[in-house]
Amino acid sequence: MPVEDRFAGKVALVTGAGSGIGRASATRLAAEGAAVVAADIDEASAGETVEQLRAAGGRAAAVAVDVSDPASVEAAVAVAVREFGGLDLAVNNAGVGAEPEPVGRLSVAGWDRVIAVNLSGVFYCMRAEIPRMLERGGGAIVNISSVMGVVATPTASAYAASKHGVVGLTKAAALEYGGQGIRVNALGPGFMVTPVKGQRARSEDVVGGLRAQHALGRLGQHTEIAAAVSFLLSDEASFITGSMQLVDGGFTAR
Ligand SMILES: NC(=O)c1ccc[n+]([C@@H]2O[C@H](COP(=O)([O-])OP(=O)(O)OC[C@H]3O[C@@H](n4cnc5c(N)ncnc54)[C@H](O)[C@@H]3O)[C@@H](O)[C@H]2O)c1
Repeated sequence: MPVEDRFAGKVALVTGAGSGIGRASATRLAAEGAAVVAADIDEASAGETVEQLRAAGGRAAAVAVDVSDPASVEAAVAVAVREFGGLDLAVNNAGVGAEPEPVGRLSVAGWDRVIAVNLSGVFYCMRAEIPRMLERGGGAIVNISSVMGVVATPTASAYAASKHGVVGLTKAAALEYGGQGIRVNALGPGFMVTPVKGQRARSEDVVGGLRAQHALGRLGQHTEIAAAVSFLLSDEASFITGSMQLVDGGFTAR
């Protein structure tokens, strides 16, 4: 359940906020009192998220962003400053799936796109967010990785490399900024009820197989990830930084 006013007076940026985990995280943070900048490459979907947040009494603004473009990311962070006066919290969540191919057949363009969005995108976001957080005396960041940040599956090389990369990037940033009041953590969701856009649709057989790989025997709900995002951003997690928190229904326990 949302914790009332946990983030009162705080400003949050959520990338990929038009869908899935990003929308659920934006919804949760707004319900807990944060002013939310909902950023997505699909501006209409970010706008829908904002309409929902406002209808529920939240403060929110939508912005179009391509996280693989550093200038676009700078502009999105500037919206947080212009609309709400600064930035305290960030959920660097935007991500894409890849074509399922073994390394020997994966296209260079496919590799480049996944790394550009899933890994360089998180770098561009933190690079733009951290100076704004320092102006406020600190902040908290959650970078959305995946179970593919600690294990891999065949035909998911680019995705797994990007998500492992997010974990290393998170640790380095946590070490660099811990002394200045900024906590940085990675979060590794297990498989969600809906795949990341760009991944091949799942057959019933595939879904059944995936369920069986989770100790809980089911896939994850976006709200279950949002709850962990909220915890990691909150003062309840004041001694947690540089960590990779798995929220995976036991996927990596085997
Ligand atoms: N769905 C899963 O099973 C799963 C599991 C583990 C981790 N994840 C990770 O969680 C994050 C969110 O995934 P989701 O399941 O909510 O996927 P989703 O496809 O429902 O949502 C991702 C959002 O990111 C946006 N986006 C894509 N490229 C972008 C770009 N270049 N700039 C800005 N926005 C962009 C999309 O428009 C979309 O709204 C991703 O990083 C994904 O890798 C997902």
